[in-house]
Amino acid sequence: MGAANILGVLVLTLLVMFPVSSPVYALSLNYYDQTCPKAESTISDAVKKAMTNDKTVPAALLRMHFHDCFIRGCDASVLLKSVGKNTAEKDGPPNISLHAFYVIDNAKKAVEALCPGVVSCADILALAVRDAVALSGGPTWNVSKGRKDGRISKATETRQLPAPTFNISQLQQSFSQRGLSMEDLVALSGGHTLGFSHCSSFQNRIHNFNSTHDVDPSVHPSFAASLRSVCPLHNKVKNAGATMDSSSTTFDNTYYKLLLQGRSLFSSDQALLTTTKTKALVSQFASSKDEFEKAFVKSMIKMSSITGGQEVRLDCRVVR
Ligand code: HEM
Ligand SMILES: *[C@@H]1O[C@H](CO)[C@@H](O)[C@H](O)[C@H]1NC(C)=O
Ligand SMILES: *[C@@H]1O[C@H](CO)[C@@H](O)[C@H](O)[C@H]1NC(C)=O
Ligand SMILES: *[C@@H]1O[C@H](CO)[C@@H](O)[C@H](O)[C@H]1NC(C)=O
Ligand SMILES: *[C@@H]1O[C@H](CO)[C@@H](O)[C@H](O)[C@H]1NC(C)=O
Repeated sequence: MGAANILGVLVLTLLVMFPVSSPVYALSLNYYDQTCPKAESTISDAVKKAMTNDKTVPAALLRMHFHDCFIRGCDASVLLKSVGKNTAEKDGPPNISLHAFYVIDNAKKAVEALCPGVVSCADILALAVRDAVALSGGPTWNVSKGRKDGRISKATETRQLPAPTFNISQLQQSFSQRGLSMEDLVALSGGHTLGFSHCSSFQNRIHNFNSTHDVDPSVHPSFAASLRSVCPLHNKVKNAGATMDSSSTTFDNTYYKLLLQGRSLFSSDQALLTTTKTKALVSQFASSKDEFEKAFVKSMIKMSSITGGQEVRLDCRVVR
C-alpha cells in the first residue's frame, strides 16, 4: 500500500469517527452564567409578551424546535432565510405550520443588547420552547446550553422529517436515526396536545383512504364526519383544518385520551397504537398526566441535545 493510500485510509477513518457535519461539544447548565447571566430571564420575558397577544405561539415554537433538531441537529437551521438560489428549510414543503419566527427574533434582539454575539439562536429556541410549554400548563425543566448555530439550511432536507402518513416502522426508523427510542416517540408525539393542523396533513385518512375504505376505519365515525365537513375532498379554504386536540392551547395529556378513542388527526398518531409496547405507553400517559410530563421532559432533553452547528449568529435569519 502506497503512502497516498495509507493517507486516504486514515482520512476516511477519521471522517467515519468524527463526521464533519456533527462536531462534538458538551452542553452545560451553567454555560452562560459568566457571559450572559440574564439570558434566560430575557428570553422568558419575550415569550411571555408574545403569548399575551397570540395563544398559538407555544405550538409554533414547539414544532419549530422539533423541526430544527431533526434536520442537522438543533442548530437553528430552521430559522435561516433563503439566500439567492438556496431555498432554506423554512421555505420547504413541510413548512405549512411554521410561524412565530418573530418571537425568536425579538428574544435575540433583547439578548444581543445585553451580551452581543454570545448566545446562540439554537439555545434561544430551546429555552423559549421550555418556557412556552411551562406557560401553557405543562412541566418545566432545566435546559443545558452551548448549542452552536449552523450555516446550512436546505429546503430539500425537510424530506427527512417524518410524514404524518408514516406507519410505526417508518417512525421508529426516523427517530432511531437520531438516537431516539420508541418511548421518546410516544412521549414527544404528546407535543400534539398543542396547536393546529391543516386539512392536507390528515387528508389521507378522511378521503380515498384505500381501495376498499373511503375513510380510515380507525377514525371514530363522528370525528371523521366532523373532519370531513371542515375538510371536503376538494377543499378550497386555505386555512381550513382542525386543532390538534380539544384543549389546543393547554399542555396536558388530552391528546393520549383522544388517541385511544380514535380522535387523533394523523396516521402517525394512530400508528402508536399498533405495537403492544407503544400502545401500553399511550395508555399510561392517558391515565397519568404526571407520567406523561416526566417522560416528555426526559425526551425533550434528549431531542434538544442533538447538536450540529459551528457559530453564534448575530441575526437568527442569516449566517455570520
Ligand atoms: C412523530 C412524528 C411527527 C409527525 C409525523 C408530525 C407531523 C405534524 C404535522 C403534519 C403537523 C401539522 C402541520 C399542519 O398541517 O399545519 C404537526 C403539527 C405539530 N406538531 Fe408534529 N409531528 C411529529 C412529531 C412532533 C414532535 C416530536 C413535536 C414536538 C415535541 C411536534 C409538535 C407539533 C406541534 C406543536 C404542532 C402544531 C403546530 C402549530 O399549531 O403551529 N410534532 N405535526
Ligand atoms: C413557506 O414556504 C413558502 C413557499 O416557499 C413561503 O412563501 C412562505 O413564506 C414559507 N412560510 C414561512 C412561515 O416561512
Ligand atoms: C434546575 O436546577 C436547579 C439547580 O440545580 C434545581 O434546584 C431545580 O430543582 C431544577 N429544576 C428542575 C425543574 O429540574
Ligand atoms: C410501513 O410502510 C413501509 C413503506 O411503505 C412498508 O414497507 C412497511 O411494511 C410498513 N410497515 C408496517 C408495520 O406496516
Ligand atoms: C384498507 O384498510 C383497511 C383498514 O386498515 C384494511 O382492513 C383493508 O385491508 C385495506 N384494504 C386494502 C385493499 O388495502
